[in-house]
Amino acid sequence: MKRTDYCGALTAAQIEKEVTLVGWVHRRRDHGGLIFIDLRDREGLVQVVFNPQLSEEIHQRAHQLRSEYVIQVTGKVMRRPEGTVNRELPTGEVEVHAGDLIILNASLTPPFSIEEEKEPSESLRLQYRYLDLRRKSVQTNFILRHNLSKAVRRFLDQNQFLEIETPFLTKSTPEGARDFLVPSRLNVGQFYALPQSPQLFKQILMISGFDRYYQIVRCFRDEDLRADRQPEFTQIDLEMSFIEREDILSLMEEMVRTVLKEVKGIQLESPFPRLTYQEAMSRFGVDKPDLRFGLELKDLSDIAARSEFKVFREAVEKKGLVKGINAKGLATLSRKELEELTQEATGRGAKGLAWMKVTPEGMEAPIAKFFKPEMLKEIGQRLEGAPGDLLLFVADREKVVYEVLGHLRLVIGRRLNLIDPNALKLLWVTDFPLLEYDETEKRYVAMHHPFTSPMDEDIPLLATDPLRARAKAYDIVLNGTEIGGGSIRIHQNEVQSKMFDLLGITKEEAEAKFGFLLQALQYGAPPHGGIAFGLDRLTAILAGVDSIRDVIAFPKTQKGICLMTNAPSEVDPRQLKDLHIKKTE
Ligand code: AMO
Ligand code: AMP
Repeated sequence: MKRTDYCGALTAAQIEKEVTLVGWVHRRRDHGGLIFIDLRDREGLVQVVFNPQLSEEIHQRAHQLRSEYVIQVTGKVMRRPEGTVNRELPTGEVEVHAGDLIILNASLTPPFSIEEEKEPSESLRLQYRYLDLRRKSVQTNFILRHNLSKAVRRFLDQNQFLEIETPFLTKSTPEGARDFLVPSRLNVGQFYALPQSPQLFKQILMISGFDRYYQIVRCFRDEDLRADRQPEFTQIDLEMSFIEREDILSLMEEMVRTVLKEVKGIQLESPFPRLTYQEAMSRFGVDKPDLRFGLELKDLSDIAARSEFKVFREAVEKKGLVKGINAKGLATLSRKELEELTQEATGRGAKGLAWMKVTPEGMEAPIAKFFKPEMLKEIGQRLEGAPGDLLLFVADREKVVYEVLGHLRLVIGRRLNLIDPNALKLLWVTDFPLLEYDETEKRYVAMHHPFTSPMDEDIPLLATDPLRARAKAYDIVLNGTEIGGGSIRIHQNEVQSKMFDLLGITKEEAEAKFGFLLQALQYGAPPHGGIAFGLDRLTAILAGVDSIRDVIAFPKTQKGICLMTNAPSEVDPRQLKDLHIKKTE
């Protein structure tokens, strides 16, 4: 190893030391005979000076240097002359006076500057990802990610978890997305599925008696991609035997607190707040509420039912509801701005957006005439309206009301700057419904996954009113993003079979897809449960970036394309022949 020090690690402590540095030319400046290079490596920048009086030959060689050339420099660390200290730079007190220079490699002119000031377009960044990853702001994210994984591993190791790998070429595991399929050459016409998660394998490992398992593992899901969704992503996946929900929640809370303390020096409040699914929906309209701000939804159905406003009254009569939020101080919105908010609402399925402005004289709104004065007063009180506030209402089926107001709450929270970007608000959401009804498929589907246990007291409901049955499932939410989810599992074969029945999975289908699990459950399966965290999402939030693409070294675009390698791509016809695959139009 030729290097003696990292560029970014030099300080006044190394003054007078003879060092050898390797790295990339970040910047070159010529100043009346002297050539200054900012030399960059993973740890940062340091200024290197080439002085013709020290060596004419080396100075001449330094003339050839261009951005991103790779060089090796030997020289002496010196204190910078009075008045040239750079306080912005951690190494700004010193510079290296070069006595030798080896050009290890040249570079083409990069398509964008590695200097931080301007952000290149994302497509250019992804196409030249190796250059993008040279940028300090990007590298920082990966160092954070590394530190998170390291801290998680340490915590889990200290808590008796064993890291065990599970297969990538496997059978489909239902997590609600489409599978990526891999054709088998040795078994013509048959396919592996890439795992959507290690769910079934980790349950089997519990049946095998490993007691505590974990894995930081890639998962594959063919779904529509967004800022927080990639086709392959990483879970911190774990499973434990002989535990109750409470054991998992408290241990995981300790893990999150330990890791954040270690990696970010943050002391989180304890315990994390908990909301049942019902509470989260009714107060925030979503099952992953952002608790960094208020603007809670308030129920006005009782007042609506007594009013003369047909839209409101009918919604309640049809077993729907009317809810409102108070957009504090937004009574100043113009007609046009109200129209835009209405479009946000109708875009999410509302039939309209009713509003009232609170003034010192009372409510001002076209719909005010449908309400008796004391009703208006009641509405104002319930939403804690003060002059200058704008009250917004949606009347509809419960699902629509939550979808729309949950969204408007975020829109208005952002607009009113109520969201502190530095705050970290964690919570557990518990008591999820076991099932939901899929309107298109006309059948029940598991809200978490089909291996999630119903609550003991709700088992009778499975026969009478399945949609009211709650699951032993929980999510952990950070700043309005679901960063993890899990459940206590069904560990009895009969209950698991009953669950498949409910989901409309026939005996034959269950046997073909999950026969191995149903069988394993009959050989002494211990009670067990677990959780998986989305490592990409957690890292992105802690790094303060908007997209998980910024914390994945080689991510894919919205269309699932890797712009650097151009995957996916056509394959050699011979490969298709081997697999007995023919393309059709
Ligand atoms: P779930 O499907 O809720 O649970 O996934 C767990 C966590 O993984 C993250 N996540 C994603 N991150 C990025 N891109 C995606 N496409 C993506 N999909 C999910 C989320 C989510 O909370 N086997 C169960 C866990 C269990 O029951 O133990 C599972 O996979 O942060
Ligand atoms: P209309 O009676 O249709 O003229 O609507 C009067 C006001 O109520 C308008 O501001 C509509 O946007 C609003 N509105 C209509 N339907 C609903 C609804 N389902 N929930 C809330 N507001 C609505």
